[in-house]
Amino acid sequence: MAKAKKVRDDVDESLIEATDIVSLLSEPGFAEIYDREITQIECREGFELPSVDLSESLPAVLCASSEEPKVDRCKIRLWSDFKPIEGDTLEKVIADIAKCESCDLCKTRNKTVPGAGSSYAKLMLIGEGPGADEDATGIPFVGKAGQHLDKILAAAGFKRDEVYICNVVKCRPPNNRDPKMEEMAVCSQFLQRQIHLIKPCLIACLGNIAVKYVIGPKAPGITRIHGQWFDSVFGIKTMPMYHPSYLLRDNSREKGSPNWEMWQDIKALKQKYDSI
Ligand code: URA
Repeated sequence: MAKAKKVRDDVDESLIEATDIVSLLSEPGFAEIYDREITQIECREGFELPSVDLSESLPAVLCASSEEPKVDRCKIRLWSDFKPIEGDTLEKVIADIAKCESCDLCKTRNKTVPGAGSSYAKLMLIGEGPGADEDATGIPFVGKAGQHLDKILAAAGFKRDEVYICNVVKCRPPNNRDPKMEEMAVCSQFLQRQIHLIKPCLIACLGNIAVKYVIGPKAPGITRIHGQWFDSVFGIKTMPMYHPSYLLRDNSREKGSPNWEMWQDIKALKQKYDSI
């Protein structure tokens, strides 16, 4: 099997074609605990559909793992299992994240990075997890990748404070490694609460890790599906997009380059956003 490839600032670029990152990142026994049907709901004009047969994925069920999970809390909580907390607020979510010790990421974090933006955002952008700059400030996407994202959002006509930006995991994985499946699983309660409270109409997933988590582990690699619309575990229309760190690796703005493709995708996202 191909080596796991990463798309963070300081790592190997080739991540984007890894086909099953979740299983590559998961300890044995976790890879199959979460499976869902991948549903493409719209195809942009002029874009080719991914050549994979999306219909062959398994239905959205919490599959029993072949091995007993080591700890109960590592079960993926699907949206359908979500029970809203009475009187919940974004402030309470932030406070709960700040005191969370459900996984080992709490031991190495400086600050938790819950998310930032409008509580009424129609669009939520979801990355994978905080990096060093975010860990130092408690604010998502403030490092080089975040600054590139800011430029892309601004160029498309989005104000950063009208959207909501967060990550699947709220604490920095040491040395910017990819978050593990069980870390994403225990942290998903916070993302679910944020989505329940904000009720975005659209989600943009930044990078393969967020795509595999939000759309499903069987989602094809991002180079094939970026810019398309999918259903997500949250039942919200979701567009996979390149991670801004990946875009920083290639200065080209030529037609067909990753930055050019991102520009087409963000324009399509903005068009959909404006139509809602
Ligand atoms: N990369 C991410 O995925 N999230 C951040 O907040 C910063 C970098």
